[in-house]
Amino acid sequence: MIIWIKKLFKKERRPKDTIQLPILPDILEVKKFALNGWDLGETHGLSHWERVERNGIMLSMENGAIRENVNIKVVRYFAYLHDKCRLNDWTDLEHGVRTADMLPTIRDMILKDFTDEEVALLEKACRYHTTEHRTGIPTVDICFDADRLDLGRVGIVPNPKLMATEQGAYYAANIHLIDKFEYKCIREPLRQKIVVLTGAGISAESGLATFRDSNGLWKQHDAKKLASVAGFEENPQAVLDFYNYRRKQLLEVEPNHAHKMLAELEKWHDVTILTQNVDNLHERAGSTHVIHLHGELTKVTSSKDRLNPCCIKDYPLDKPICLGDKAEDGSQLRPFIVWFGEYVYAIEVAMDYVKEADIFVVIGTSLTVHPAANLVEYTHSEVPKFIVDPNPQKVPNGFIHIKESATKGVDKLIEELRKL
Ligand code: OAD
Repeated sequence: MIIWIKKLFKKERRPKDTIQLPILPDILEVKKFALNGWDLGETHGLSHWERVERNGIMLSMENGAIRENVNIKVVRYFAYLHDKCRLNDWTDLEHGVRTADMLPTIRDMILKDFTDEEVALLEKACRYHTTEHRTGIPTVDICFDADRLDLGRVGIVPNPKLMATEQGAYYAANIHLIDKFEYKCIREPLRQKIVVLTGAGISAESGLATFRDSNGLWKQHDAKKLASVAGFEENPQAVLDFYNYRRKQLLEVEPNHAHKMLAELEKWHDVTILTQNVDNLHERAGSTHVIHLHGELTKVTSSKDRLNPCCIKDYPLDKPICLGDKAEDGSQLRPFIVWFGEYVYAIEVAMDYVKEADIFVVIGTSLTVHPAANLVEYTHSEVPKFIVDPNPQKVPNGFIHIKESATKGVDKLIEELRKL
């Protein structure tokens, strides 16, 4: 009896007969612009614009590929822009013309990659889509049909006789076929500018001590004596010993999962690492764009003029810097580290990256040392911001806190980035 009831209610799980559309890059910029302030609701999980985009791609295809005489970029942009100037009124038939007239004003913002010919195609597609005009231009007529095939959203069954293309007429007569086209495959994340500010915490799990945690370097040593010009002048040997030890230690440690995942992120995004760390673990993990705010243990410089480019040199990590070793200008060699009170030469460049960031991430820093700590103030307010730290001194305003160590937190961070 139970088996019989189970059978009765068991849903038939026939494989869904879908057709995959080709993978095309996401066009987030135009979506952000066009959809701002709009909500036409969703049908089957897709907005009107997404359905017009899907219909447009579907109509542009022949034998599994986009037809050569169709400009797919224009078709897709049309999907998102054509309703931008619509009044909140279904009888507004002028919105296509208004959108066409708007295009020159957004040319430099949204359409900067468009040629004049592409702008002209898009303009025609917008101008004619609220008329019954057919142009005979495949791209424009496909835009026309892509929109009409979605008339069901306002309760109108598309009329095959009023479509501009044969394919459009076919799908209007067989409207149920449209849902066979799998849309989600065209969503590929856009490359975002991700800026990551890292501190000692990211290297802690590689075996390098932080500064201010209970076993931190500045809990065991006096920062003023080991990380200042005055300290170097007073006892240069002690300072060299401290940095020689840390330089040698770099040979014994490896990048951890957090360093590696940030490097991996470059496959999908433009990642800039602004690090307060003087180790080379980001580079060794494979990150290609690392800006060191506080210098680098792998380098040495002049103690007379530390920013003299002729004196800044790579220096073997297994070779100690000794008293008497000379820089190019004849002065005592010193580690290429920004000591307390010294100008943070990379800060302006770092600020520019932060201001331009689409996403800003902070990992493993107490945000107590300025000016690096101030960088969190320079992001745009709407930019998603994350801080990964198991025990932060503070969580700045607007930041999502991932309360994990760097190696665990970075996986959670990547999950969050996927949702954006
Ligand atoms: P701090 O020692 O001040 O802060 C380390 C941060 O990392 C703290 O917030 C910890 O909670 C966090 N942390 C500890 N373990 C972690 C882990 N496994 N994963 C993630 N986070 C963890 O180090 P910084 O903020 O980097 O400058 O210090 C800034 C500057 O102060 C350094 O660049 C250095 C120092 O003086 C110079 O030497 C010039």
